[in-house]
Parts: sequence; structure tokens; C-alpha cells
Amino acid sequence: MVRIDPTERDSLYRTLAGAVVPRPIAWVSSLSSEGVENLAPYSFFNVVSTSPPVVMFAPADRSGRPDGLSDSARNARRTGEFVVNIVTEPLAAAMNETSATLPPGESEFDHAALDRVASAEVRPPRVAAAEVAFECELHEFIEVGSNAMVLGEVVSVHLDESVTTDGKLDVRKLDAVGRLAGNYYCRTGDRFRMERPD
Ligand SMILES: Cc1cc2nc3c(=O)[nH]c(=O)nc-3n(C[C@H](O)[C@H](O)[C@H](O)COP(=O)(O)O)c2cc1C
Repeated sequence: MVRIDPTERDSLYRTLAGAVVPRPIAWVSSLSSEGVENLAPYSFFNVVSTSPPVVMFAPADRSGRPDGLSDSARNARRTGEFVVNIVTEPLAAAMNETSATLPPGESEFDHAALDRVASAEVRPPRVAAAEVAFECELHEFIEVGSNAMVLGEVVSVHLDESVTTDGKLDVRKLDAVGRLAGNYYCRTGDRFRMERPD
């Protein structure tokens, strides 16, 4: 067995990111205090609770940036709102474009030529082409060392009819993309069924 020293940050990151796979991707839209529409992907993302409905994304520290935070994290903390858009395969390239570091004042929506749609309950817009979007109000902002965990309570949900059957989300119709490590991703179209005991 190879032992990894957990204090060696680079090899630990590589091991965590490569072993905790596939990770779902939160494509987070948010608004800066100046009103710039921000959009960025976060694969440290998951559901935390269904009652109340809470999701989370975890931005790594950005020393040197205002508040030591990424724009998405700072916007969510300052405005109390964000939207998680789900990334499907046709949107993967645009999602990747939005991970670029842009000059302040430039929106990733424009950078990646993405249409936005007004949200129902929160001010940040959602990605028009996203088949699933969760509008969130900040539930809690937890500092984890120099990283953070941003918890959002889902206050509105949008589903494109193309991913539904009888008005409900049908996982067989949603080609969500998963993050592996480095520049590798996976598709979720290779599904199989397994019955649970009892
Ligand atoms: C697929 C993908 C997943 C990412 N996941 C994370 C993540 O979980 N945490 C993080 O801090 N950065 C992550 N990043 C990097 C951020 O998206 C990138 O630094 C971006 O510029 C942050 O934008 P913001 O400052 O507008 O929030 C990811 C990038 C990609 C392409």
C-alpha cells in the first residue's frame, strides 16, 4: 500500500479529488454587491438535508482575494443568495469557460455567451439552458480552516420538462456531468439498476 501523508497538501488534494469521484458539479450563479452576475463551477458540492432542503458547495481559500474568498463564496455571504444550476453534457464546455478568472466587473455569463433567466425568489439569475436549477437562500456559512462550506436552503426549483416524466424529475433523462480529477470528467448515461434488500 502507498501511504499518503495528510500534511502534504498537494498529494492529499490529488488523492481526495481523485478518490471521491464522481463529484456532482454546482454551477453557482450569484450577484456581487455591485450587481455583477457571477457564475462558476464547484465540484465540492452535495445535498445536506431534505428537511429543510439544504445543499452546500465548498470553496477553497483564495488568499489575496477580498475576504480571502472566491467571488461565489463572497457574493453568497454578502447577499445571502445564490442559484445552483446543474451541468449537463451540452453545457460542459461553457461550464469550463466560466471557471476562468475574469477582471472584476466582467460577468462569466457574457464571457461564456450564456443566456440568463430571472429567478423566481432570489436576485441572482439562473442559467437559461440548465435543465435543473435550485434557487437558494444562505442557510449558514461555515469556515473550515482557510476553506469554507456554503450551505443554502432551496427556496425554488426549476425543472425543464425534457428531464421529467409525469411532472417529476426522471434521472434517466438527465445527462448530468460528473467531475473526476484534473481535466477528467464522466457522463452519467451509463446507468444500471439494483434492487435494495427489503
Ligand atoms: C469542474 C470544476 C469544479 C471546480 N470545483 C471547485 C471547488 O469545489 N472549489 C473551489 O474552490 N474551486 C473549484 N473550481 C475552481 C473555480 O471554479 C474557479 O476558481 C473559479 O474561477 C471561481 O470563480 P469565482 O471566484 O467567480 O467563484 C472548480 C473548477 C472546475 C472547472
